[in-house]
Amino acid sequence: MDDRMWKGAIIIMKKEVFGTLKDGTSISLYTLRNARGMEAKVTDLGATLVSLFVPDRDGVMRDVVLGYETPQDYVDNTCYFGTVIGRSGNRIDKGRFEINGKTYQLAINDNENNLHSGPDGYDKRKWEVASADCDSCIEFCLNSPDGDQGFPGNCRITVSYTLTEENELVLHYGADCDADTVVNLTNHTYFNLGGHDSGKVLDQKLMLTAKYYTPARDHQAIPTGEIVPVAGTPMDFTTAKPIGQDIEADFEQLKFVGGYDHNFAISEKPGEMKKMAEAYCDKTGIGLEAYTTCCGMQFYAGNFITESKGKGGVSYGPRHGFCLESQFYPNAINQEGFASPLLAAGEHYDSTTVYKFTV
Ligand code: BGC
Repeated sequence: MDDRMWKGAIIIMKKEVFGTLKDGTSISLYTLRNARGMEAKVTDLGATLVSLFVPDRDGVMRDVVLGYETPQDYVDNTCYFGTVIGRSGNRIDKGRFEINGKTYQLAINDNENNLHSGPDGYDKRKWEVASADCDSCIEFCLNSPDGDQGFPGNCRITVSYTLTEENELVLHYGADCDADTVVNLTNHTYFNLGGHDSGKVLDQKLMLTAKYYTPARDHQAIPTGEIVPVAGTPMDFTTAKPIGQDIEADFEQLKFVGGYDHNFAISEKPGEMKKMAEAYCDKTGIGLEAYTTCCGMQFYAGNFITESKGKGGVSYGPRHGFCLESQFYPNAINQEGFASPLLAAGEHYDSTTVYKFTV
């Protein structure tokens, strides 16, 4: 009974100790299950997806996301395995933006820019469990005070994970703030459809629906502001191809950032649920379809995954996973022509991203 969370007399979800951080904070791990046997493990540290078990073509359950063995590993590493990123994912030019005539300065942690809101990201915080009243869903919440990371306004963030009977993992984000602020939430899961312990993802096939992407100015990966066609370039994934097929092509955009690490334009503005990607692994037969209400998606091919030990002592390295990070376009708060991630005081931020698994 100890490893279960109780609500009244009803067992609602398996809860276990994930570990204790160096500072003594105790971190929990929650297991979500659907009736088909799919299982997700999430932790209150960073509202992070730690494991995701899906059936392969032989019915063997495979863990298809990269993750660490202990909570302290999440604090010590900067790869953001499975974490929720906020208050603003991706890059902000020089870490600076203006709202209502006032300039705000964030930490500089990526060349001359801010990446994923700086070193004090939501991924390193312990979130609260807001609700966990079924076997297959959990909602975390976080209070981010005025001035947190440099952002204005007291902001309440929620993120929920739900497993459906269609083998979907649904992520639903919400935010409310008492001042005008920036909100651009995403999840940074690294998928490997061969299993998290199967090495590089280069032969896994990927299709991206986006016909346009936002090219980077230079190696610092801030967009130029243009939205250009993928057609005729290695950025074209509108027909499925192996991730590795063109990744080493002599193409300036790929050279800038060491492979794919770009924002693909799913739509001009957020709101409508659209397919953003499909992926497939020949070896396991596991397929992934991804949908989102966000307008942009950073496709990151794991170019900078540091050599490290993950779950079960497995060795991870560059390109052992790929991310499909649904969000606003990078640096959108400073870029006219990109849908704005400004959340006005009193308005509600809402977005949904779905990862559906097939065999
Ligand atoms: C960025 C990459 C970065 C990675 C891990 C991604 O969202 O686009 O450039 O290396 O996160 O920090």
